[in-house]
Amino acid sequence: MPGKARTVQDRRRNVHMPLVTTKEMLKKAQAERYAVGAFNANNLEYVQAIIEAAEEEKAPVILQASQGAIKYAGLKMVVAMVKAAAEEASVPVALHLDHGTDYKQNVKCLAAGFTSLMFDGSSLPFEENVAITKKIVEMAHAAGIPVEAELGKVATAGHVTEEEIKALMTDPEEAKRFVEETEVDSLAVAVGSVHKMTTQAAKLDVERIARIRELTGVPLVLHGASGVTDEGYKMGIAAGICKINIATELNKAFTRGIREALQKNPDEIDPRRIAGVGRDYMKEAVKAKMRLFGCSGKA
Ligand code: G3H
Ligand code: ZN
Repeated sequence: MPGKARTVQDRRRNVHMPLVTTKEMLKKAQAERYAVGAFNANNLEYVQAIIEAAEEEKAPVILQASQGAIKYAGLKMVVAMVKAAAEEASVPVALHLDHGTDYKQNVKCLAAGFTSLMFDGSSLPFEENVAITKKIVEMAHAAGIPVEAELGKVATAGHVTEEEIKALMTDPEEAKRFVEETEVDSLAVAVGSVHKMTTQAAKLDVERIARIRELTGVPLVLHGASGVTDEGYKMGIAAGICKINIATELNKAFTRGIREALQKNPDEIDPRRIAGVGRDYMKEAVKAKMRLFGCSGKA
């Protein structure tokens, strides 16, 4: 624009950012004591809602795809959508595999362009979890890609009692051995949260988080975080949580938007006027979480 200075925002709008890895993102979060939001995406509207929210909040963001999402949308499509959205964005975006349950799935995602991997060996005996995690870490690090692993087991709502949740929690001493032996970059910990909760009622064992942080030194990941209270996020982050995974809350916001749009206009047949409302609701849900996690303004 001749005669008119471009603002920082004007310049940033033109920046085409490739996907980044979660390595530096989580190190910065650890040093500055906030958590990066990791949001599960299943289709185009999710990708748009999450990246638009990150842009508006000026927050670094992790888009993650579960094996279910990859099956639903297709591996190439997931990578293409997230890459395209990241290139349009001025904030750092990473694409992460969520709960990869075997070596092959991790290799496939690495080859397809994911910039962060996860091996979830939480159902395996300790030594087996170590062995496969280690193999994936070696392979991924050769390509400069970080890996998250899980020790202990984050349970799923509907199938567990309080006692079982406790029994599945991460043992801090084991976590120390696990991180030393695998050289994993971040660790998903079982500390009281439960996957797929539809209300914020889970109680975190904050002391356990702090102890694991103290013994391992790696950025810790909170799964099942839709069910964690706002206070729980705050306390968890103060104790060492650097990545917070949200899926259920986004599904709730998306379907609430769709339901309301259909109730308001039962004869509407343009899917954009239905899914678009879901997308708007989801974006607001992501922004609210980013503010709670302290990552707003950290891009
Ligand atoms: O890996 C994904 C998360 O742990 C999401 O958990 O569905 O309870 O939000 P959530
Ligand atoms: Zn999870």
